[in-house]
Amino acid sequence: MATVTLDQLCKRYERSTDLAVDHVSLAVAHGEFMVLLGPSGCGKSTTLRMIAGLEAISSGELAIDGRVVNEVPSKDRDIAMVFQSYALYPHMTVRDNLGFGLRRRGIDKTEITRRVQDVAATLGLGVLLDRKPYALSGGQRQRVALGRAIVRDPKVFLFDEPLSNLDASLRVSTRGELIKLHRRLGATMIYVTHDQVEAMTMGSRICIMDKGRVVQIGAPLEVYRRPANLFVAGFLGNPPMNLMPARLEGDRLVIGAARLALPPELARDAASAPGLVFGVRPEDLAVGEPGDDAIATEVTAVEPLGAETIALLRIDGSEAEMTARLGRDATVSVADRLHLRPDLAKARLFDAASGNALG
Ligand SMILES: Nc1ncnc2c1ncn2[C@@H]1O[C@H](COP(=O)(O)OP(=O)(O)OP(=O)(O)O)[C@@H](O)[C@H]1O
Ligand SMILES: [Mg+2]
Repeated sequence: MATVTLDQLCKRYERSTDLAVDHVSLAVAHGEFMVLLGPSGCGKSTTLRMIAGLEAISSGELAIDGRVVNEVPSKDRDIAMVFQSYALYPHMTVRDNLGFGLRRRGIDKTEITRRVQDVAATLGLGVLLDRKPYALSGGQRQRVALGRAIVRDPKVFLFDEPLSNLDASLRVSTRGELIKLHRRLGATMIYVTHDQVEAMTMGSRICIMDKGRVVQIGAPLEVYRRPANLFVAGFLGNPPMNLMPARLEGDRLVIGAARLALPPELARDAASAPGLVFGVRPEDLAVGEPGDDAIATEVTAVEPLGAETIALLRIDGSEAEMTARLGRDATVSVADRLHLRPDLAKARLFDAASGNALG
C-alpha cells in the first residue's frame, strides 16, 4: 500500500499542440479510493497511464510513497492495472491466467497456489479455475482480470473503466464486489470512469477533470452539494443541477418572474458579480402556492420513473427550462402550472463570466 502524488503532471502527445494532461496535481492518500471522473477525452486514461508507467511524463513529478518514479519502468513501480478490455491469455486456464504474473516473477509454486486459491475464493472463481477464457461470460472474464491484479498484491491498483463492458446488472454487482474488495484489502486504488454513479458510490474522493485539467477534488457528496463551477454543476447529477440566468435587484434575485429573497451572505457574494447563474438541484424544489419566492413554470413533459417523477418545466417570463424531482405519487400533467420554491440553503450562485461558484 502506498501514497501516490502527482505534482503539476503534464502530457503532450507528439504532433499535438494541446496538453492532453494539463498541470494535474493530486495527492492520493494511503488506502484511498480515488476516482478520476470526467467526459470523454478529458485526460483520465492518459493520467492513469502515466502513473502506471505506460506513457512517458512530459513534465511534472510523479511520486509513489514519496519516491519520484518518473523514470522508473512500469514493472518496477509495484502497480497493477485493470483495463476495460481485459486481455486474458486465451490458451491458458483461469488458474494459469491468475498465476502467470507470479510465475514470471519467480515466486514459489506453493505460494502461487495459495494466492490463486485465495483470490479465486474472494471473486467467486473457484469453480472456474480449470476453464479457458472462451468458456467464460464477460463478467467472469472481467473478474479473472481483476483477480490477476489482486493476486500480485501490488502497492497501488489502477483501474481504467473496468466495468464498462459489463451489462447493467453485472456492473452493479461487480461494483459492489470492488467496494468490498477495497475495504478488505485497504489498498490504494485509482479508478477512472465517466460514469458518475460509479464515482459517487465507490470513491473516497472524486477528482473531476475537464480538458486535461483538474476542476474539483472532494468527497462525493461534497462535490455534489457544492460544485465549484458551472462545469461540475452541469456534469454531476442526473438530471443535473438546474442552471438559470439570474440578476440581483436590491436583495432580491430575479429569475424569470420570480423575485427570491436571498439570505444576506448570498446577496453579499452576488453583489460583486456582474452576471449571475442560479443553480438548484431538481430535488431541492418544493411545489407550493404562487408567490414572489416561487418560480412560476409550465410543465412541458413528465417522466414517471417509478421511484420518483421528473417534471420538465418552462419558466414563466424566460426561455429557460428546468427540471424538478417530484415524489413518486406526484400527479402532474403536461401544461399544468407549477410554482416551485427553491431551497436556498442548498442552492448555489455562480459568476456567469468566470463560471465559478460564489461563496
Ligand atoms: N496516443 C495518443 N496520441 C495523441 N493523442 C492522444 C493519444 N491518446 C490520447 N490522446 C488525446 O489525449 C486526450 C486525452 O485522452 P484520454 O484517452 O486520456 O481521455 P479519457 O478521459 O480517458 O477519455 P475516454 O473517457 O474517452 O476514455 C484526447 O484529446 C485524446 O484524443
Ligand atoms: Mg479513457
